[in-house]
Amino acid sequence: MSTHSTGSAHHQHVGHDHMAGHDHMAHMAHAHAGHHVMVHAPAVDVAEAYRYAYERAQPDPGAAVVLVELEAREADWQITAGRTVRAWTFNGQVPGPVIEAHTGDVLEVRLTNHLTEPTTLHWHGVRLPAPMDGTDMVQHPVEPGATFVYRIKLLDAGTFWYHSHSNEPVQVRRGMYGALIVRGADEPVVDRERVLVLSDAMVEPTGELSSASDRQGCDGNVRFVNGAAEPELMIWGGQVERWRVINPSSARYIRLSIGGRSFSALGTGGGLLEVPVQMRDALLPPGDRIDIAVGPFEPGETVFVLSVPYDRGFGSGESERFATLRVGPRADSQAVIAERLRVIAPLVDGPVTPSREVRLGERAGAHGEVDYLINETQHLRAEDVVVGELQVWDVVNTSALDHPFHLHGFFFQVLERDGTPPAFRSWEDTVNVPAGGRVRIAWIPDDRPGEWMYHCHILEHHAAGMMAHFRVVRPTPDHEPSQISPHVQVNSEAVR
Ligand code: C2O
Ligand code: CU
Repeated sequence: MSTHSTGSAHHQHVGHDHMAGHDHMAHMAHAHAGHHVMVHAPAVDVAEAYRYAYERAQPDPGAAVVLVELEAREADWQITAGRTVRAWTFNGQVPGPVIEAHTGDVLEVRLTNHLTEPTTLHWHGVRLPAPMDGTDMVQHPVEPGATFVYRIKLLDAGTFWYHSHSNEPVQVRRGMYGALIVRGADEPVVDRERVLVLSDAMVEPTGELSSASDRQGCDGNVRFVNGAAEPELMIWGGQVERWRVINPSSARYIRLSIGGRSFSALGTGGGLLEVPVQMRDALLPPGDRIDIAVGPFEPGETVFVLSVPYDRGFGSGESERFATLRVGPRADSQAVIAERLRVIAPLVDGPVTPSREVRLGERAGAHGEVDYLINETQHLRAEDVVVGELQVWDVVNTSALDHPFHLHGFFFQVLERDGTPPAFRSWEDTVNVPAGGRVRIAWIPDDRPGEWMYHCHILEHHAAGMMAHFRVVRPTPDHEPSQISPHVQVNSEAVR
């Protein structure tokens, strides 16, 4: 990876021309069947919206422009000593390079596609303008041989990730994902920080990487930490580390356990919690992240980093190992984790009526397979939401499998799970909705109009239609404000 920072916004503008000369009609062709025929293609003014978003992305005074070159290309991925598989990679590695930046920086990623099929990049969890979201509703796919530049002002600290948003059951399963770490001014002080990308892959007996998965979404048979199969990690005795854990797996649920020891959660998908929360395990559905403080351990200990059994609808299986953690000799610790990490103002206090019900369901398909549905259809065109209006959505799972619900571009707060408020308040972009369960979320669309989406993050379900497009729109002059906002507090941090 070539990433470097420049202190000023003075650098080449490379983004504009890739939008020109594109064959529009080619992209209008792949409509999906369903009750509504949904065309996945950007509107005609996409180039102008892109240019505007590109130019508006300027770093804060003193902050950097972080330039990253990403090449999507096939490469050999060494999964264990002496064993490689052919993967689809960013810059020849799985996961792709860890991108690191600070709040106030601008991230500029120049993506060049050396694959034989089109691709796009989605910045999972990042609050960005719609034209940079990487879906096929806001940009034309990056064709083989072409380059596209994403330019994004980073507003929030947190553990994010990037992944292909095209033909995901193939591209992401074959390795097209990586971590994006954004640091804020006031991070907890730890002895060491690690990014742990916990993923899996289905390696065939022939030694090939399989991307042919059933629509249910199956777990891979090899488990990786940062692209290495079940590696050994080493931690010094007496030290406390911050682990930023990401689950980019296509379908695997990880119920993270550090040898059954307690650890404390510092943050989730939308950044730091208000206070550290002690836990013994943490459920990470596909797409989700957690930041935890791990340790201290005694010198000489060996601890396994595991996914312990969790029943997502077809049995709970066994504990599976991701890594072995060996504890070395005792070392000094400088770690200071504050009792208060930040304040998260509640979006809602008191009773509220939901403004939308999102139903995740299934039905038997025409050929004996299962269709994955959203509000009884596939690839739904959902209602618009209006900038500034509180959204309270009930996400209901009427199926027999858990589904991880992901909202693009905006953080939400979980208000209730099956009527019970959560143990702690957090910002999220991905939440598990258990089979038969109901999760109530709240969020406020800030002023980032455009095309957005929400979907199940099991990639096969998303591809099969468990997804909805919707627009964020500015209020029109005669717009009647929504009636559902009793005690609303908008997130105090304004979006620029
Ligand atoms: Cu990480 Cu549309 O998703
Ligand atoms: Cu699903």
